[in-house]
Order: sequence, then structure tokens, then C-alpha cells
Amino acid sequence: MSVIDWDRCCMARALELALRGQGAVEPNPLVGCAIAQGKQIVGEGWHTRFGGPHAEIEALAAAGSAATGATLFVTLEPCCHHGKTPPCSQALIRAGVRRVVVALQDPFPQVAGHGIAELRQAGIRVEVGLLEQEARQLNAPYLKLIRRGRPWILAKWAMTLDGKLATRTGSSQWISGEASRARVHQLRGRVDAILVGRRTAELDDPLLTARPPGPRVATRIVVDSQARLASHSRLVQTARDVPVLLAVGPEASAADCRRLADAGCEVWTGAARDAHERLLQLLDELGRRRMTNVLVEGGGRLLGSLFDAGQIDEVHAFIAPKLAGGQAAATAVGGQGVEQMSQARWLTTPTVERLDDDVYVCGRLRPAVQHEGSGLQNSILAEQGRSTSRDSLSAKIEFCKPDPRAQTVTSPTKQEEEG
Ligand SMILES: NC(=O)c1ccc[n+]([C@@H]2O[C@H](COP(=O)([O-])OP(=O)(O)OC[C@H]3O[C@@H](n4cnc5c(N)ncnc54)[C@H](OP(=O)(O)O)[C@@H]3O)[C@@H](O)[C@H]2O)c1
Ligand SMILES: [Zn+2]
Repeated sequence: MSVIDWDRCCMARALELALRGQGAVEPNPLVGCAIAQGKQIVGEGWHTRFGGPHAEIEALAAAGSAATGATLFVTLEPCCHHGKTPPCSQALIRAGVRRVVVALQDPFPQVAGHGIAELRQAGIRVEVGLLEQEARQLNAPYLKLIRRGRPWILAKWAMTLDGKLATRTGSSQWISGEASRARVHQLRGRVDAILVGRRTAELDDPLLTARPPGPRVATRIVVDSQARLASHSRLVQTARDVPVLLAVGPEASAADCRRLADAGCEVWTGAARDAHERLLQLLDELGRRRMTNVLVEGGGRLLGSLFDAGQIDEVHAFIAPKLAGGQAAATAVGGQGVEQMSQARWLTTPTVERLDDDVYVCGRLRPAVQHEGSGLQNSILAEQGRSTSRDSLSAKIEFCKPDPRAQTVTSPTKQEEEG
């Protein structure tokens, strides 16, 4: 194996390790690290939980004295500031590491190149950019939160083969099988929030909790312009145990807001009169709370609004081999939709999996650009060229899927500083 292949191998391993922190480390980035002496890995580590040691510290501890003179591969620039833990840059210098290979520079303002500069000043050889696209894909939710101030949106739905979310009467339980539903619970257990439309909350009366619990407890959010969610709904009834946030409009009555707040729900009022604008305000608010991943579980109207606004980042579709028919039955993604099939939004590197009788399709949407004044936003960014190709490494590292080895931790306060 050539030196270049060996380096790629080590960085691929570091990326794989980083993914183990998914659901436990956010709003921090997922980071993995491998330390090599010649053609031997002498230490590995990853960031396992928010507030816990960083990947580099874990790997240095595993390597012990073997870290001296070694090459350290890390998926994100080492930090150089005091967050919840001391700076990794100093630990690397102290350990006597000779060379550091970084996949991606950290855009976090307190790091942003300073970590790399510090290492170089100490005489360490630093190379940046190995498997950078894969590292970007790995941390796409973190990067979006920093760049756009909004969470990464995962759209999930279960549908019949003819694209229905429910029958014409609103009956939807159950479309998919047990294996698919178990997968949804895994997703719920790693996100910061689960968002549904008011009609879904009313018709399905869902609990929206992860069963069994995952590494994180999601806030359950309903977009409910007039604060009409019933007091006897399962969401309201359990609001004191698992957070519920009602996103209401200025038209909601003070009495209903009080009723829901008294029952333990948080009532957040969006200032915009228009529900679509308010939805974007809500995403900004969730970003301010440093929520990194938000799972949207329907229904079709809400998913349609998000699609039209170009806000869906990732899709998890469970397709059951049955037909429901019905012109009036809800389809997976409503809204206005695109005009031309050529404008349809593609998933990049989708994975397709059979779950008992269902087919599970999961992938990320190519980014779209927002056109002011037009209802639809379908132009693909030049940035699209950044998305990885089918045969690249990221196709093998399945970023969408929860890692069963992820450790269980309590959800950090969203306002906490980067750890
Ligand atoms: N198979 C599945 O995976 C799945 C998942 C979820 C739901 N469902 C089914 O889908 C059906 C409900 O879906 P739906 O499409 O009728 O309704 P929905 O998307 O669940 O809820 C739509 C409602 O949410 C409120 N809302 C507030 N802001 C909004 C915005 N910006 N965009 C869209 N809605 C906004 C509006 O009510 P207000 O004006 O009162 O605010 C709107 O009527 C049910 O039959 C349910 O069983 C199936
Ligand atoms: Zn660090």
C-alpha cells in the first residue's frame, strides 16, 4: 500500500469512528481520530458525548507514549480554545506528535484556522484537506447550523406504493411494518426536535417519543397557528415529562396559549402573519437554541411547505407495497411542488434497503438556492459539485443511519457553549 493510500485509509477510519458520536455530541461536531506510527495504528478515539473529551484526547490516551513522533489523522481541525475541555492543540504539542493530517478546517469562529496555525508554530507538519468532502458530508448538520443558523432538516414519512400518507379519511396507522417503525424510533432518539403539523397531531394523536430511548430526548414541536391542540391529546398530557413546544401565530387566543402553557407546553409565538414565513422564523429560533437535527414527521402539508421553501436536507421514506388510492388522500409532499420534472429535486447517493415488506429509501437532497419572489426554489447551487460521487468513500459511510454503538447521554442544554 502506498503512503497516499495508507493516509486515506487512516482518515477513512477516523471518519468511521467520528460517526459513533452521532446523536450524543451535538451541537458539537462529530470528530474521529486515528494515530499511526509507520503503517500501524497505535491509537484511536472519537468524541463520544457533549462535554466529554475530544477525539484527539481519546486517541492520545489510547496511544500513550507511541504518540511521540507519530502521525495523527483527525476529521476536523483540532480546537485551540478552552470550551468544556482544554485545547487539543496543546495536548498534541505536548505529546510530541510529528505530523497532523486534518480533513476539514473548523468554521467555528473560535477555531477557524487558529488550531492549525498553533500546531505549525510549534513545528508540527500539518496537512489539510484529505477526504475533505467526506468530512463535510459527515458534519453537514453542524456546518449548516454554523453557516445558516438553522438546523438540519430530516423529512420522514411512511407511504403506500401509490404515495399516500393516509386514506381519504385520515387513517394512517399503520402503513409501514414493525422494522420500519423501529428505524423511525432510532431516528427520533438522535435528533433535537421532532416537528409535525397541527392536523397530524390532531388526527394521529402521536406521542413522538423514541421507544426505546436513544442518546437524546427530542423536543416535540407542533405548528399550530391558532393554538388549537386539545388538552386531552397525548402530547399535551405528557408535556411535563418530555418537552412540547407549540409554534403558534399572532392570531392564537391568549386563553388557548395559557391553557397549553398551564399544561406544561412551551408556547412560542412567531411574529409573521403568514404561516410559511412563520415556519422559517421557527427554524431560525431552533437554530438559536443550537438544535442541530430536526426530524419532520409530516403530514404532507407541512412537508410541502418545507419542500417549497427549499428547507428539506435529508429524506427517510418508508414505502409499503400496498395501495390506498383516493384523490383526497394526503400525499407525502404537498405544497406547490415543482413545475417541470427537470426541476425535481434529486437525492445524492441514496441508500435503498429492504425492511421486511417495506422499502426504505434514505438520502440527502442536493442543495437548492432561494429565488426571491418565485414560489419555488429549484436551482441547484454550484456548490452541488461539492456533493460526493456515488463511488466515493461517503457512499460507504452511511451518515443517515443511527449507529447502535452510540452511547446514551442526557441531552445537553442547547444554550451551552461548544464543548
Ligand atoms: N404516513 C405518514 O408518515 C404520516 C405522517 C404524518 C401524518 N400523516 C397523515 O397525514 C395527515 C395529516 O397531514 P396534512 O397534510 O393533512 O396536515 P399536516 O401537515 O399534519 O398539518 C397541516 C396543518 O399544520 C398547520 N401549519 C402551520 N404552519 C404551517 C405551514 N407553514 N405549512 C403547513 N402547515 C402548517 C396548519 O394548521 P393551522 O392553520 O391550524 O395551523 C395546517 O393545516 C393525517 O391523516 C395523518 O394521519 C401520515
Ligand atoms: Zn478539541
